[in-house]
Amino acid sequence: MHMLSPLQTFTIEGLYSLFRGDREVNWKDEDSIQDQFLSSVDGQAMSKQTRRDFLFLATGVASAVGVSGLVWPFIDQLRPDDDERAVESTITVDISSIEKGMTFTVKWRGKPVMIRNQTTEEIEESRATPLKALKDHYARNANLPADTPATSLARSAGKGRENWIILINICTHLGCIPHVCAGSYNGWFCSCHGSSYDTVGRIRSGPASRNMAIPPYQFISEKVISIR
Ligand code: FES
Repeated sequence: MHMLSPLQTFTIEGLYSLFRGDREVNWKDEDSIQDQFLSSVDGQAMSKQTRRDFLFLATGVASAVGVSGLVWPFIDQLRPDDDERAVESTITVDISSIEKGMTFTVKWRGKPVMIRNQTTEEIEESRATPLKALKDHYARNANLPADTPATSLARSAGKGRENWIILINICTHLGCIPHVCAGSYNGWFCSCHGSSYDTVGRIRSGPASRNMAIPPYQFISEKVISIR
């Protein structure tokens, strides 16, 4: 089994904090991100179950991130120069290890992008939601025309891939990081001011008024996506 070095362990614990979304982070400010990240690595308690789940993701899935893809650049000494930043603007992610009901977070252009493999129940629930029940009627999907209605299908990776939800995990109110599988609609919940999003990231209640943004991406294969 692959052994983690102390540095890797240090990094993963901090990432776990962000993964859980329990820190308010201003993603527009990289110094702020790093300060909050480092201050989060303070030995906070984690249940064995959640820690194991996260380590599984961090070791299993992160190892599958493509060459041009993600390296969480929270280690200050590794701050990339402009050329490296250009490369990071497109990342490839192997999603084959993300099982039903699991979510994985990657960093893309300095923002957290969540990749969720929805359960059948979640898909059915979002399909059953009438558009008139939505606060924001637009899909906010960079892969579709701007006036596309916010149907369950339009918020997903599309026909045949409706189980995949890929979105920028930033609250559209004031930019906090929402928790996943939380809130009144069992989707994303922003504890800053109480905005609840549904299972496909559509705003349903609280002060936020827009659906969570979907970045431009494409499936290179059934196992690999490219976010660009
Ligand atoms: S920043 Fe999310 S509800 Fe205000």
